[in-house]
Amino acid sequence: MKGTCVIAWLFSSLGLWRLTHPEPQDMTQCQRAEHPVISYKEIGPWLREFRAKNAVDFSQLTFDPGQKELVVGARNYLFRLQLEDLSLIQAVKWECDEATKKACYSKGKSKEECQNYIRVLLVGGNRLFTCGTNAFTPVCTNRSLSNLTEIHDQISGMARCPYSPQHNSTALLTAGGELYAATAMDFPGRDPAIYRSLGILPPLRTAQYNSKWLNEPNFVSSYDIGNFTYFFFRENAVEHDCGKTVFSRAARVCKNDIGGRFLLEDTWTTFMKARLNCSRPGEVPFYYNELQSTFFLPELDLIYGIFTTNVNSIAASAVCVFNLSAISQAFAGPFKYQENSRSAWLPYPNPNPNFQCGTVDQGLYVNLTERNLQDAQKFILMHEVVQPVTPVPSFMEDNSRFSHMAVDVVQSRDTLVHIIYLAT
Ligand SMILES: *[C@@H]1O[C@H](CO)[C@@H](O)[C@H](O)[C@H]1NC(C)=O
Ligand SMILES: *[C@@H]1O[C@H](CO)[C@@H](O)[C@H](O)[C@H]1NC(C)=O
Ligand SMILES: *[C@@H]1O[C@H](CO)[C@@H](O)[C@H](O)[C@H]1NC(C)=O
Ligand SMILES: *[C@@H]1O[C@H](CO)[C@@H](O)[C@H](O)[C@H]1NC(C)=O
Ligand SMILES: *[C@@H]1O[C@H](CO)[C@@H](O)[C@H](O)[C@H]1NC(C)=O
Ligand SMILES: *[C@@H]1O[C@H](CO)[C@@H](O)[C@H](O)[C@H]1NC(C)=O
Ligand SMILES: *[C@@H]1O[C@H](CO)[C@@H](O)[C@H](O)[C@H]1NC(C)=O
Repeated sequence: MKGTCVIAWLFSSLGLWRLTHPEPQDMTQCQRAEHPVISYKEIGPWLREFRAKNAVDFSQLTFDPGQKELVVGARNYLFRLQLEDLSLIQAVKWECDEATKKACYSKGKSKEECQNYIRVLLVGGNRLFTCGTNAFTPVCTNRSLSNLTEIHDQISGMARCPYSPQHNSTALLTAGGELYAATAMDFPGRDPAIYRSLGILPPLRTAQYNSKWLNEPNFVSSYDIGNFTYFFFRENAVEHDCGKTVFSRAARVCKNDIGGRFLLEDTWTTFMKARLNCSRPGEVPFYYNELQSTFFLPELDLIYGIFTTNVNSIAASAVCVFNLSAISQAFAGPFKYQENSRSAWLPYPNPNPNFQCGTVDQGLYVNLTERNLQDAQKFILMHEVVQPVTPVPSFMEDNSRFSHMAVDVVQSRDTLVHIIYLAT
C-alpha cells in the first residue's frame, strides 16, 4: 500500500466507506446485491485524514486505549495520533542503517525492498512491541508507549516478523507476555511457521517443511481467545487433488501446549486447522476461497471475514460471518486424513475430541503418551468444513477486491445493526 492507499486505510478505521447491514429486521432489504453508494465528497465533513511527508505503506494500526491514541506503523516511521481527530502527537523515524541496506542490495534486493517496513505493532501494558523488516534483517524493539523514541530492548525479528515486505504475517501478544507470530521464518520465504516465543513457555513452532501443516500460507489475522490462539489464513489446499487451489482456514493451538518429547519436540502438539466456506449457494456453489481480512466481535463470538476470488479469475468479494462455536465444533469433530500420498482423504474419528487443552489445570508438565504424540503428528486437518452463520454471504460484490474490513455494532431504534466497513 502506497500513496493514495494511505488514506483508504485510515478510512476503514474511521468507518467511512461502504455500508451494509447483515442482520437487521428487514432481511430482504439487506440481502440486496446493490447497496447505496455515497460519494467521497459527501462524507468529506466526517472524514479525518492523516498524511505525513515521505511516509508510505501505512500497514499497521493499533490503539492505546488508555491515552486515546492511535499508533501507526508505516515504512521507516512510527506515529502516535490523537484518536479523536488523527492529529499528530509523535513521529519517530525508524530506518535501517547503511550497512544493513548495503547487505540487502548485495543479496539482489531493490532499493524499494531494502527499507524498514513495520509488520508487528502490539501494545502490552505501557509498552509497544514493534518489528520491522529492516532491509531483510528483521528486528523488534520494545518501546515506551508514551514516548516511542524510548527503546528498552532490541531483539532479532527472525520468526517474529517477515524478511520481505511482500510476505503476509500476523502476530499477537498474550497477557502472559508470549508472542505468537505467523510469518515466513527465512529470507526466501520458504519456511512459514506459527511460532511462539518470549514469555515463560517454551518456544514452539509448526512442523518445518511439512505441507500438511502449512502449504504456502498467507497469514491474515490472529486472536487470543480463551485457552487458544486462533490463526486465520489462506493456503494451497493439500486435500484438493486436481490442480492448485487456495482454501481459507481457521487454525488454533492451545496456549498451554509445551510441545512433545522425542516426537514433536519444540513443535505444537495441539495444532489443528479447518476450512472456512464462504460461497454463493447454487447448483454449483460459487466459492470466494481467499480470505483477505477478518474482524472479531468478542462480545458475540463472531468472526467476520472478507473473501475474494483468486487473482487469476474474475474479481469478486464477499463477507461471510462465522460463529466461533461452529469453528470449535469443527475442531471437536473427525479429522480428514490421508494414509499416503496416493490414497484418498477420508474422515477419521477424532481419537480424543477434548484432548486439546485438557491438561491446563494439571500444570505444564503432564506427559502426553507416545500414542497422543503420534496422533498429534498425523492429524492436522479437520474433516468438517466450517459453514458461515448464513448460507448466503452477508455482502457480495463483483468486480471488486476488498482487502480490509472493520465491523461496528450500533443500536438502532429497535435492533442492533452490524455495520461493515470495507476498504480496497
Ligand atoms: C518489554 O519490556 C517490558 C519491561 O521491561 C517487559 O516486561 C516485557 O516483557 C517486554 N516485552 C517484550 C515483548 O519483550
Ligand atoms: C523521549 O525519549 C527520548 C529518548 O529516551 C528522550 O530523549 C526524549 O526527551 C523523550 N521525550 C519526551 C517528551 O519525554
Ligand atoms: C499478501 O497478500 C496480498 C493481498 O492479498 C497479496 O496481494 C500478496 O500477493 C500476498 N503476498 C504474497 C507473498 O503472497
Ligand atoms: C480452558 O480449559 C479448561 C480445562 O479444560 C476448562 O475448564 C476451561 O473452561 C477452559 N476455558 C475456556 C475459557 O474455555
Ligand atoms: C459451502 O456452502 C455452500 C452454500 O451453502 C454449499 O452448497 C457447499 O456445499 C458448501 N461447501 C462445502 C465444502 O462445505
Ligand atoms: C453462535 O452459536 C451459539 C451456540 O451455538 C448460538 O447460541 C448463537 O446464537 C450463535 N450466534 C449467531 C449469531 O448465530
Ligand atoms: C512423566 O513421565 C516421566 C518419564 O516417563 C515420569 O518420570 C513422570 O513422573 C511423568 N509425569 C507425570 C506428571 O505423569
